[in-house]
Amino acid sequence: MFAVDEWALGKVEPQVVSKKRKGPATTDTLSNDSAKRDKPHKTQRKRHRTKGSSPTLAEDGPAARVVAEETRERKKAPDPMLTALQTKMAAKLSGARFRMINEMLYTTSSSEAASMFQTQPDVYSDYHAGFRQQVQTWPENPTDFIIRNLIQRVNTPKEAHGLPSKKGICTVADLGCGDARISTKFSSRKNVRFYNFDFLPSRDVVAADISNLPLKSSSVDIAIFCLSLMGTNYSDFLGEAIRVVRPNGEVWIAEIRSRFTEKMIEDFVGWLSRSGLQLKNMNRDNTMFVYFEFKKQDGSSRDVLLDGNPELPKLKACKYKKR
Ligand SMILES: C[S@@+](CC[C@H](N)C(=O)[O-])C[C@H]1O[C@@H](n2cnc3c(N)ncnc32)[C@H](O)[C@@H]1O
Repeated sequence: MFAVDEWALGKVEPQVVSKKRKGPATTDTLSNDSAKRDKPHKTQRKRHRTKGSSPTLAEDGPAARVVAEETRERKKAPDPMLTALQTKMAAKLSGARFRMINEMLYTTSSSEAASMFQTQPDVYSDYHAGFRQQVQTWPENPTDFIIRNLIQRVNTPKEAHGLPSKKGICTVADLGCGDARISTKFSSRKNVRFYNFDFLPSRDVVAADISNLPLKSSSVDIAIFCLSLMGTNYSDFLGEAIRVVRPNGEVWIAEIRSRFTEKMIEDFVGWLSRSGLQLKNMNRDNTMFVYFEFKKQDGSSRDVLLDGNPELPKLKACKYKKR
């Protein structure tokens, strides 16, 4: 197991970057005309502070209480100037933290990643928060592409390229599901059922290393990998998919485009086809990801993947740009 560097991945504490402004902003520190206008004149303030004088009714009334509360809140609020700087710095640091965790996930085995997340669950949530931000900047989230594909095929008769199913139910395993976004779109459909797996559990997610799934052989109709072929042992994940998918079932893969060269795409597809996954559809329209759809042939075997096949392409680690 590796430990995440405490310094590099430590929580970002807000920092004061200006010496001039020591305290939080108040109406006194803001060069705001209305603030000046609303400030009571010195003599007025003195009058209120006269020894023994009791507060006026207006001061004690509900409106005054609201204003006092608001002022207290305003005093608590940080200087807007500092906040902008701090927000920028915090965003940069959390971006750097995300990229570091991301790189670790691509350059270590899944068992190392699993132990890291189990002992440091914060790292897991920080990774996912960073990933969600990254995806927002993409032309299309690959989960949307997969959702569209599923919806289109769920509405198509099985014989006319509808979804594979058993007794009218298509069982999908989302392997490395993250927030389990795909399944949420199908929660009201009775004919599509999901198993969601990722390193740590949540309401809709079962904790599992996808190199060793808690599923029976030939028990699902579709296995989905959406950007989740991350560990150095990613061939084990594909091997598990071949084991758990029924013959004539499918394996759908969306992966970051820059992880492949042209030659790697060829090798990847050739390598999977030798283990019985026949390519049915490939989509390279998107600038960020490439999508593959495979069908499991009768007699498929994961042994080809697991016995150290020399042609196994070493997919490049995905490196996100600094923003
Ligand atoms: C880039 S994120 C994508 C998440 C989700 N599929 C999506 O597209 O929104 C990759 C996900 O795969 C998960 N993952 C990678 N390797 C895994 C493994 N061996 N076992 C379980 N989850 C894994 C990560 O934890 C992460 O949630």
